[in-house]
Amino acid sequence: MFILCFVILLDSISTSKHIETNRYTFDFKDLPSSFDGFKVAVLADFQIGLYTKEKDIDYVIDQLDVEKPDVVFILGDHIYSAPHKFNYYNPKHLESIKNVFSKISSKFPTYAVNGNHDNWENKDGIIKATIDSGVGFLDNRHVWFTNQNNINERIHFSGVADLDTDIIDIQAAISNVSTNDFSILLSHNPKVITSITNKNYDKYVDLMLAGHTHAGQVNIPFMVDPFFKPAHKYGLKNYGDTSLYITSGIGMVLLPIRFNANAEIAIITLQKIDLE
Ligand SMILES: [Fe+2]
Repeated sequence: MFILCFVILLDSISTSKHIETNRYTFDFKDLPSSFDGFKVAVLADFQIGLYTKEKDIDYVIDQLDVEKPDVVFILGDHIYSAPHKFNYYNPKHLESIKNVFSKISSKFPTYAVNGNHDNWENKDGIIKATIDSGVGFLDNRHVWFTNQNNINERIHFSGVADLDTDIIDIQAAISNVSTNDFSILLSHNPKVITSITNKNYDKYVDLMLAGHTHAGQVNIPFMVDPFFKPAHKYGLKNYGDTSLYITSGIGMVLLPIRFNANAEIAIITLQKIDLE
């Protein structure tokens, strides 16, 4: 038993530094024709600080250079100085965020929302660093993204603030979207999908992207996860007219280990389908 635990621990530590690039193609009927093949990079939970260092994100940026996405979304928990209960914040991580965000946004249109750790540690500082780095800040905000090859077609990007540490305003995010528009909503916390479906906002949100869960981070076979239900932990699931994709993100909290929960860069290609 001791040997088994030791092997699992060793595997968990080595897995923690391994980042997969996972590629998907999702179909949408509301996607404008000129956006058929549009490539979205989904990043989350950098948690730069205690375990993930700024230089670890260089690999992520190298992978973006290979994948050449049309847009990059960064879904919060950018920093992690320490577990929340220690109430500790290290300001040097803000510089790391500026550096990383500036590198990404210099190459790709980039948008971000805050996560719970960002708001706990330095909400205003993170927001300023995001904007100063040329990254669109989408907490309870929205933007129209026009296709450079066809300026008559556009899609809608919006975001909500973190569910646990801020006030979410879905109305502010999607109020100017019609049911026929193609719309992507960013949310750090995937549980926002409940508000989307309860208020019938799923008609206005084609794709929701979330992080926060680290895909459970440590998934021991036959053990029940005390934090997340399987449906709210990782991957793609449809809720009414909204497809929710939850990424496992990059970093870690509490302990520097991942088990059965690889870190990932998710690359989603949008594909138009015509319904007769
Ligand atoms: Fe989080």
